[in-house]
Amino acid sequence: MQKFYHILNYGCQMNESDAEHYAAQLEELGYHKNEDFRQADVIVVNTCCVRESAEKKILGKIGELKNVKAQKPEQIICIAGCMAQKDGEKLIKKHPQIDLLIGTSYVNSFKEILEDYLHDKHVRVHTEMLNNQDSEFEGERVRENGFSAWIPIMYGCNNFCTYCIVPYVRGRERSRSVENIIEEVKRAVAGGYKEITLLGQNVNSYGKDFGEKEAFAKLLKEVDKVEGIERIHYMTSHPRDMSEDVIKAVAESKHICENFHVPFQSGSTRILKEMNRGYTREKYLELIKLIRKYVPNAVLTSDIIVGFPGETEEDFLDTYNLVKEVGFDMIFTFIYSKRSGTPAAKMEEQIPLAVKKERLNRLMELQNDISLKLNQKFVGEVVEVIAEGPSRKNDKVWNGRTETNKLVLWPIEDNKFEVGQAVNIKIETAQTWILKGKALV
Ligand code: SAH
Ligand code: SF4
Ligand code: F3S
Repeated sequence: MQKFYHILNYGCQMNESDAEHYAAQLEELGYHKNEDFRQADVIVVNTCCVRESAEKKILGKIGELKNVKAQKPEQIICIAGCMAQKDGEKLIKKHPQIDLLIGTSYVNSFKEILEDYLHDKHVRVHTEMLNNQDSEFEGERVRENGFSAWIPIMYGCNNFCTYCIVPYVRGRERSRSVENIIEEVKRAVAGGYKEITLLGQNVNSYGKDFGEKEAFAKLLKEVDKVEGIERIHYMTSHPRDMSEDVIKAVAESKHICENFHVPFQSGSTRILKEMNRGYTREKYLELIKLIRKYVPNAVLTSDIIVGFPGETEEDFLDTYNLVKEVGFDMIFTFIYSKRSGTPAAKMEEQIPLAVKKERLNRLMELQNDISLKLNQKFVGEVVEVIAEGPSRKNDKVWNGRTETNKLVLWPIEDNKFEVGQAVNIKIETAQTWILKGKALV
């Protein structure tokens, strides 16, 4: 009898990367992936707790699994990831359908934990944080995407931005060695992955823990040299730590993409201080200038939080005007969410939800205008995309991304494309988030 697994994944790229390790370990134990979690013998819910909205959604799903398991009592339910790390045993008390709780330090021990469980069927909780976890070890992966590979270069975060739960659930910063990373990059490229994304909560502090200066720029140069690699992305950058040597490394490289995701979170220096971000509005704008000096066509994106405790209309306008001034290609805007255990949760003057929503809407309207105007510049141009496959809504239309991560759609007509193939597209129309055109073949 075949056994099946299903992974329900939430949260950031780090979680997507971890999920690939869970998949590989399940396959080593003889499980096969299936599409319907109701029929799976093992369900892994890989959780996120960065905002309350994420938690609510996941808790709803865990609730649903109770009914699913009632139909299939032998089913094994594992809760992994950041929420498992944060809430630990509390989750099992509330949701007795859970069999295994796996914190963020146990990604590569999952196979043994599951084997132990299969042996005696006793509930297991592994949420002790092992900050000294061996960062050199990255187990096998089963990748979801056929041409793009995640490669973590560091784990954890030391920044403790006052709103953020991540440092509490991912532990202290630990960098992998350059050799170790390059070895994994080479293996991925040899396996056909042309696009590599280097992952870390603050990639600009890569190598600080082994006392190396300019370590991230040096790493980028090494990755750029790997034979066969086509596109290199990295995330996330921190404006306080992003330095000239990194920008230069991007400018001088052959394969590092010219998109800069540099979250500024707030345009108000006063709020930035309350957030413990370590830079001012002016410093951030200088950084943007520096990026544009070396990389004139840089595509800029950012994360922004609205409604941080104490944010006045004037503070918000600082954010609004910064967005206007820089002209980002895209922004990811979030309503501040109170995370218990973080310093900001205890701050007075929490902002009412209606005010936060109104600010978010104003910011999104502004950005829609900016994105559309920037996209319209592409009309009539030819861009190279890497084909990702048929679009979700229409299999007669394919989608792919440009070097700077713009989403492009084109009709396939009589042509055939392969996933991962480079295709030249002549852009005919621009929308806020997508470009549409025809393939030149
Ligand atoms: N390490 C990365 C990503 C952190 S989480 C970074 O520093 O940018 C991704 C984004 O979630 C953050 O950039 C921030 O904008 C947002 N975020 C984090 N905590 C939040 C909270 N409590 N409420 C709302 N948004 C939050
Ligand atoms: Fe959170 Fe700040 Fe660390 Fe990013 S840098 S993960 S926002 S604490
Ligand atoms: Fe969420 Fe954890 Fe990532 S809290 S954003 S999955 S590091």
